[in-house]
Amino acid sequence: MVANAGYRRRRLGGASTVDDGKRLQASRFLYNCVMPAYVRSKKPIGFPTRGKTASNRLRRVDNFILLYEPSLLTRGDEPFRNALFVDLGYGFDPRTTLESAHRFRKVNPNLAVLGVEIDKERVKAALPYANSTTHFRLGGFNLPLLPGETVRLIRAFNVLRQYEEKDFRPAYETLSRYVLPGGLMLEGTSNPYGSLWAANVARRMEDGASAQDNAEGWKMEALVFSANFRANFGAGFDVADFQATLPKNFIHRVAPGEPIYDFFEDWKRAAAETSAIKVFGIRQWFAASAKALAAKGYRIDLRKKWLAGGWLIWKQE
Ligand SMILES: C[S@@+](CC[C@H](N)C(=O)[O-])C[C@H]1O[C@@H](n2cnc3c(N)ncnc32)[C@H](O)[C@@H]1O
Repeated sequence: MVANAGYRRRRLGGASTVDDGKRLQASRFLYNCVMPAYVRSKKPIGFPTRGKTASNRLRRVDNFILLYEPSLLTRGDEPFRNALFVDLGYGFDPRTTLESAHRFRKVNPNLAVLGVEIDKERVKAALPYANSTTHFRLGGFNLPLLPGETVRLIRAFNVLRQYEEKDFRPAYETLSRYVLPGGLMLEGTSNPYGSLWAANVARRMEDGASAQDNAEGWKMEALVFSANFRANFGAGFDVADFQATLPKNFIHRVAPGEPIYDFFEDWKRAAAETSAIKVFGIRQWFAASAKALAAKGYRIDLRKKWLAGGWLIWKQE
């Protein structure tokens, strides 16, 4: 339905024209200059970025959430009963939001869903698909919630990748204000078709809990790497492919002296040490590399449901 709609080229590419490029540059400049004023006002915090998306791009992200913590989607106790799933930055059209709503409502038919976009045209493109449980609103990191609304889960994919590293912490801190304690945010980056991605799993801490990890309000629970073996590693398995999909707090830090650099070096070594396993298949090699990485001291979730499905979960401290 949505996937077949005839969207104009300008919407598809976001920054595909000179005008769009200038518009994005101007938004970025304003964002950098007046961020504190934005925080005080109701104006959306952030700036429009390229809106590219693709059908089923985030299918593996949804499948991950459904395996990682299905109870987060289904729990009906207060204050979670009517809490929203928020898709932040859904792109030039709402196809990924609608796809997720469909997937998640298989486990919770009453799930309330909110797609948030900072680009007005993209909100307009989505409104025809809104109904009593699926909403689309103009907003930014300061989520456009109505009085009484709460959030159980935020998915923010391919949004922060277009910001600067210094924007990471303020964005997380702002978002934490809206999520119920115990709720989650999955924030990450994928390749164009979603067959390879990496994401932070951030858990909203109880109010008043002392600051942990990278951003106030959140406990960074895990860094997850996801690969669809068939789509990616036909000829071989290359750990380095994941580096390009690292979330914003890691991507500029793959350099000697940084923990994420050591992690990748050790995973590459683990893959080399277990390469003989590839005769049994890439899936088996991926799993063997994860086990070898765990043997080097990393807290990797070695359960079969993750490794066989192409997910490497590195639990953070
Ligand atoms: C590349 S698209 C990602 C679309 C979809 N999430 C996906 O992964 O396919 C990024 C979208 O995020 C939006 N965006 C950027 N900053 C935002 C913010 N602070 N709040 C809401 N949307 C934002 C942009 O306007 C753009 O449409």
